[in-house]
Amino acid sequence: MSEHPTDHAATAIRAEKNWATIAVLIIAFLAGMAAFAGIHQATMPQARVETADPTTLHLSGEFVESNLGSALEPDGSVTVRAIGQQYSFTPQCILIPTDTTINIRATSADVIHGLLIQGTTVNTMLVPGYISVQSARFRKPGEYLMPCQEYCSFGHEGMWGKVKVIDKSEFMAMASKQERLSCVK
Ligand code: CUA
Repeated sequence: MSEHPTDHAATAIRAEKNWATIAVLIIAFLAGMAAFAGIHQATMPQARVETADPTTLHLSGEFVESNLGSALEPDGSVTVRAIGQQYSFTPQCILIPTDTTINIRATSADVIHGLLIQGTTVNTMLVPGYISVQSARFRKPGEYLMPCQEYCSFGHEGMWGKVKVIDKSEFMAMASKQERLSCVK
């Protein structure tokens, strides 16, 4: 006789235990994912925040105009430093090599702007006082539009820059002659 009431109770208890185990596993997985993202600086916004005083950006520190653009680092990666301000980006055209780890460091000199490289996963807000950090890698040479994606007052529609990805060897040849590169003509 399998249709005995106690059999039903046993089945229900077993099912409940199974589902409880699944629920605990899902929670453990989510907690693990949050820990992984935190350790690898992959959360948005990032847990470790760097600051930059918007009122003195142009006077001293990392974001003075002479330090903006793309810089080749000793480890072979490229750091791109940029500023957004009403209503343009500096540099207006960012130069990037192919097959290279690109670390973008950008901030705003006035209000909140957005930095978006169309067709890529690069998409971050530029908040005055804070440094937005995002990394990327481009496989092929090409050109991308970089519009401001955060409404920043009446000139917002006209605020956009460009990203030009060039062959790595070409970039390295240029980097050997000049410390900060851009494609602003
Ligand atoms: Cu800057 Cu919208």
